[in-house]
Amino acid sequence: MYSDAAKEKAEKLRYKESYYILSIESSCDETAAAVLYGKNVLSNIILSQIEIHRRFGGVVPEIASRNHLAAIDGVVAEALTVAGKTLSDIELIAVTAGPGLLGALLVGVSYAKSLAFSLNIPIFAVDHIKGHICANFIEYPSLKFPFICLLASGGHTAVVRVNSYSDMKTLGSTVDDAAGEAFDKVARVLSLPYPGGPEIEKAAKNGKAVIPLPRAFKNEKHLNFSYSGLKTAVINYVRNAESRGETVNAADVARSFQDEAVKMLADRVFAGAENEEINTVVLAGGVGANSALRALLTEEAEKRGISLYLPSKRLCTDNAAMIGAAAYIAIVEGLPVSSLELDASPHRSV
Ligand code: KG4
Ligand code: ZN
Repeated sequence: MYSDAAKEKAEKLRYKESYYILSIESSCDETAAAVLYGKNVLSNIILSQIEIHRRFGGVVPEIASRNHLAAIDGVVAEALTVAGKTLSDIELIAVTAGPGLLGALLVGVSYAKSLAFSLNIPIFAVDHIKGHICANFIEYPSLKFPFICLLASGGHTAVVRVNSYSDMKTLGSTVDDAAGEAFDKVARVLSLPYPGGPEIEKAAKNGKAVIPLPRAFKNEKHLNFSYSGLKTAVINYVRNAESRGETVNAADVARSFQDEAVKMLADRVFAGAENEEINTVVLAGGVGANSALRALLTEEAEKRGISLYLPSKRLCTDNAAMIGAAAYIAIVEGLPVSSLELDASPHRSV
């Protein structure tokens, strides 16, 4: 239970223009902590476990939890040092409570709760997906609700109408694989290391889009995505070539796949903007770091007179600054802080 002093501090936050936030993110394979003053990011430390998981071809949940546990203290300390602050300056703790790997989330949530308890300050539980979306507010202070968001990460792919932090409506989402998952699986079949997205992007730069691949839901009006047909077509193409003893041109495969994958993303988000009659589009999630996607969105937004917001690549992939910004936005909106009984959940709350 919180003391009355902590409750009072929580009440005051809503009326304060700015205050120091320490945010923690541990939903997958990045141990991350950031210090913000309102939406201003003073530090944003990300300790990636990618090298540890790479030899398994993907994230191993138990190994992720263990490494979060070993790393979190040092990552938080570094976030404070880089920001030039100490724990006694912090007025709010923000933490990712889900969705993600349960064991990994629990490390961040338990750590954040004990900090909030010992410092006697409020804590706010952030939804990871809402965090990705709110990353846009860090670099674009003029961004206003409502807007349409293309969310493309390793676990989620959706077009979301964002009216406010607490009012987000999914207009369409993937019926099978997430976009990032498809990038990772195609990379694997091309013997490229995990995570596949950046590797596919690199390989595609030297390739041509010469391999015919299927596009799902081509003439359909809904805003859903499907990546399993595209992924299977690529896998079949590679396997067939190999069985004939031919060497595949990995750059051409990567380019052909990437072109189709990003076309589907762009197509759906602009259709969403048109349907909802909203001319502000924002990007969120790890796949948002893809240069081909960013270029296509920029070109299409210009053609359609849409205001497009692209967070910098470091703010697209998992980080804690977006979690702090999300907490700040939510509190400005009047949402109550969380109780110390808050729990981690692997599910999405949007
Ligand atoms: O948002 P994120 O960091 O973590 C999740 O919440 O899932 O997204 C990770 C996903 C991975 O599938 C990764 O391959 C993909 O984002 N990704 C990319 C790029 N950078 C990361 N996909 C395509 N191109 C990239 N440059
Ligand atoms: Zn993420």
